[in-house]
Amino acid sequence: MGTGGLAKFPVVFVTGGYGPPDFPIEERWPVCGIVGYTGYRDAVPVLIEGLRRLEYRGYDSAGVAVSCEDGLRIVKRAGKLGVLVESLDGVARGHCGIGHTRWATHGRPSDENAHPHTDCAGSLAVVHNGIIENYEELREWLRGLGHVFRSETDTEVLPHLIEHFYAGDLLAAVREAVRLVRGSYALAVLCRENPGFLVAVRRDSPLVVGLGRGENFVASDIPALLPYTRRTYVLNDGEMVAVTPEGVRIFDAQARPVHKDVFEVTWDAAQAEKGGYPHFMLKEIYEQPKALRDTLRGRIGADGAVALRDVPEEWAGAKKVHITACGTAYHAGLVGKYVIERLARLPVAVEIASEFRYRQPLVDRDTLVVVVSQSGETADTLAALREARRCGAPVLAVTNVVGSSVAREADATCYTWAGPEIAVASTKAYTTQLAVMYLLALWLARRRGTLSAELEREVVAGLARLPAAAERVLTGGDRLREVAGEIARHEHVFFIGRGLDYAVAQEGALKLKEISYIHAEAYAAGELKHGTLALITDGVPVVALATQETVLEKMVSNVKEVKARGGWILGVAMEGCRAAQTVADGFVPLPRVHELLAPILTVIPLQLLAYHAAVARGCDVDQPRNLAKSVTVE
Ligand code: AGP
Repeated sequence: MGTGGLAKFPVVFVTGGYGPPDFPIEERWPVCGIVGYTGYRDAVPVLIEGLRRLEYRGYDSAGVAVSCEDGLRIVKRAGKLGVLVESLDGVARGHCGIGHTRWATHGRPSDENAHPHTDCAGSLAVVHNGIIENYEELREWLRGLGHVFRSETDTEVLPHLIEHFYAGDLLAAVREAVRLVRGSYALAVLCRENPGFLVAVRRDSPLVVGLGRGENFVASDIPALLPYTRRTYVLNDGEMVAVTPEGVRIFDAQARPVHKDVFEVTWDAAQAEKGGYPHFMLKEIYEQPKALRDTLRGRIGADGAVALRDVPEEWAGAKKVHITACGTAYHAGLVGKYVIERLARLPVAVEIASEFRYRQPLVDRDTLVVVVSQSGETADTLAALREARRCGAPVLAVTNVVGSSVAREADATCYTWAGPEIAVASTKAYTTQLAVMYLLALWLARRRGTLSAELEREVVAGLARLPAAAERVLTGGDRLREVAGEIARHEHVFFIGRGLDYAVAQEGALKLKEISYIHAEAYAAGELKHGTLALITDGVPVVALATQETVLEKMVSNVKEVKARGGWILGVAMEGCRAAQTVADGFVPLPRVHELLAPILTVIPLQLLAYHAAVARGCDVDQPRNLAKSVTVE
């Protein structure tokens, strides 16, 4: 395609066009969502409303099981929740039920593979979030006992296992069954013989209990409970609950009763919705100034000293740092590397968690391992954490979810306070993860004496001003929407940068490709002539990030190389940067900040570019195909 419509755009664009909202706090997100209800209401509407609030976790299929007068009624369909709702029309009526919305892991999305799954006689129904790692051997053993399987899923072994142990006590049968299971699970179980009673248990997948009056609930996540109750129990690994309309009993893995304090949810259900924005992603892009303020709050002292509560002082003596994460969180680690090395003069390795966990990494008690995960439930990141601990390394978790698995298993946690991030494409989690990287770099630098008082003051002051600077980037016209609409007509887009800009370019490319399905690639600008330049032809859009003064001249040369081959350049640089603005075809000015702090601002126009391109292409922005909010399976 030629330059096409891109050439007609005026040079300077500003981003934004919506007002920032006001949002509070946290939740948790693995894939798949389960709900359970028992009480005085008709169960199906409660289950459907709960699944609707969990659909962002996975949406390949959905299903419910209800204790009816004539036994258990199961309705389940491939496709989004709406498909299930159309199939229900009153066929399942009862006051106790379980429901599930799925992100396929074992077995393609189909009616048969949808949850709930049942035993042979249809007397037990199970919904499950997680993965049963030894399901094949369990399936073979159960087949040898005469059990017949109908689906391709790992989950289906669960009802058959429970059936095997069931002798009238559902709680005992579930306990015996999960003893044989290796893997992760949050599951809820119904039994035909005991209507109104449900059992739930968790390991490595979150599960919460909702406490009502004459009714009680279980769910993967708190939002599913909020239309009915704010009083909850957050279950820990191994804990099991027996739930009736009258009450909830909690037991540990050894069947001992557990007392738990009620966790009162303080945020408003409506706030977990879109709040007037067309998509969660856009809402969350505009929440970034507040998310940054909340994440920085209380962590920078009057004297400019950074306070990281719970982080042991002796960790400043680490000989190296190893950051491991997936996806956008990994890209935050790339920025972390630059800033920690620059400020604390510590060698930093950054590695994708799925690589780290299998290569016998060279980490030890003198290596500070930092795992970054918005959800705190990503399987590869959790496994990398466990591998690091096995190697004797102290582990710091950076996560957005209180009580998430990485938070519970790390030696210390530094939370991002981004609030609910519902869109699959991570935005405010990324910028708040960057904020924590800066805080960690400053915390280490001061203790290691590697930072001049002057530079520390400059960086700390700049960090504190970032929320306001981010607001400036987000306000103004929305010309970016128009250029995004033109870029959306292309099938290939490149992002280039040097140093910190190269790190951010990788996040920009991921944003664009994961929600607009345009092939996007990030490249170190200095590397272009070693191959990728061959792909630059007339009109190919190239997003050039040029915020790093120290390499600006080189960056301008790289942009000229691209233009000489006909590429169309969208430049992103500090306002007033004549060199960048002159050479670019389109230009996005950023408020001037210290170049070390630029990434938190640079990424915002890239997020908006991806968003508007995806909208222009009619994509499902919040729930892009094949993806889920948190990948709790390998
Ligand atoms: C980000 O836009 C993606 N949805 C994905 O790469 C995500 O960052 C990755 O799966 C890691 O998730 P986590 O931060 O919850 O561990």
